Amino acid sequence: MNSKYTLSNDGNTGCANGYCMQAQMKHKVEKIEGILTEYLPRQEGFQSIIMEAMNYSLLAGGKRLRPMLMNETYRLFGGESPLIRPFMAAIEMIHTYSLVHDDLPAMDNDEYRRGRKTTHIVYGEDMGILAGDALLNYAFETAFKAFVMEPEESLLIGRALGVLGEKAGIYGMIGGQVIDVKETGHSIPKEVLDTIYELKTSALIEASMMVGAILGGASEEEVKIIEKIARYVGIAFQIQDDILDVTSTKEVLGKPTHSDEKNEKTTYVTLMGTAEAGRMVEELSDQAVSLLHQLSEENEFLEQLLLQLIHREK
Ligand code: IPE
Ligand code: IPE
Ligand code: MG
Ligand code: MG
Ligand code: MG
Repeated sequence: MNSKYTLSNDGNTGCANGYCMQAQMKHKVEKIEGILTEYLPRQEGFQSIIMEAMNYSLLAGGKRLRPMLMNETYRLFGGESPLIRPFMAAIEMIHTYSLVHDDLPAMDNDEYRRGRKTTHIVYGEDMGILAGDALLNYAFETAFKAFVMEPEESLLIGRALGVLGEKAGIYGMIGGQVIDVKETGHSIPKEVLDTIYELKTSALIEASMMVGAILGGASEEEVKIIEKIARYVGIAFQIQDDILDVTSTKEVLGKPTHSDEKNEKTTYVTLMGTAEAGRMVEELSDQAVSLLHQLSEENEFLEQLLLQLIHREK
C-alpha cells in the first residue's frame, strides 16, 4: 500500500490508525460543507429570495457523496491543489438542482428532502423551478473560477468542464430523467431500466470521478477505467436507493419512502424483489472495486467508501 494514501487518524476521533470510516467520513463531509459555504452566493439584491432558496436546498444535510468521490479520485492520481475545490462545489450544486427538480409536482411530487420540506414547498413551485435553474448555472459559474486559480492548467480545466457539461445533460443525467418520467406508469424491460440508471444516476457519479481523474493528471486510458468504475457504482447506488424506498423510513432517509410505488415506477425492486436487487448491488460494487485494483495508484479510503455504499442505510 502506498503510504501516501494509507488511512490515518483524522484528528480527535478516538480511533487508531486504520479503518475508522465513520469518523473519517464525518471529517470529510465537514470539509466539503466548508467548501460549499465558501462558494455559496451571497443573499443580496431584489432577487435575494433565489439565493435563499439555493442555499436552503444546498445546505440541507446531503451525504456529499459526489464531491467526496471527486476529491478521493483526485487524490488517487496524486492531485493536491485547491483547483479541485470549485469543481467539488459545482458537482454538488448540479446534483442538488437535479433533486430540487426531481421533487417538483410535475416529476416525483415529493414534499420532503434531506430532512426538510422540499424547496418548492417552502418557496413555491415558481421559485423551486428557478432555484434548480440557478443552481445549475451557478455550478458552471463556480467551476469557471478554476481558470483564474490556475491559468496554466487551462487545458485540463477545459477537459473537466466538457465532462461535467456532457454528463449533466441530455446524454447524461437529464437524458435519464427524461426516460424515467416518460416511462412512469409503464412496465419496462431491464435493458431500458439499466439505461435510465446509467444516465440519471451513474452519469453524475461518472462526472465526479472523471473530473477528479482528469485534474489529477490521469491518462486517457485511466479516465476510461474510472468512468467504468463510476458506472457500476452509480447503478449499484440507484438500486440501493430503490431498495431503501421500500425498506427504510422517512426519518432515516430524510425523504419519503414508497415514492416509487406512488409514481408507478419500474425499479430493480419491482423487477426482481429486494433480495435479488441486494445481490446486484454487491455484485456491481465488487466489480467496481476489482477495476479499481487494475490501476497502479491506490487510495484505501476510496476503496472502503465504495464497499461501504453496498450496505448504506441512507
Ligand atoms: C439521491 O442522491 C438521488 C439518487 C441518485 C438516488 P443521494 O442519495 O446522493 O442524495 P443526497 O445528496 O444524500 O441527499
Ligand atoms: C432520481 O432518482 C435521480 C436524479 C437524477 C435526481 P429518484 O427519483 O429515485 O431519487 P430520489 O429517490 O427522489 O432521491
Ligand atoms: Mg425521480
Ligand atoms: Mg425522486
Ligand atoms: Mg428514489
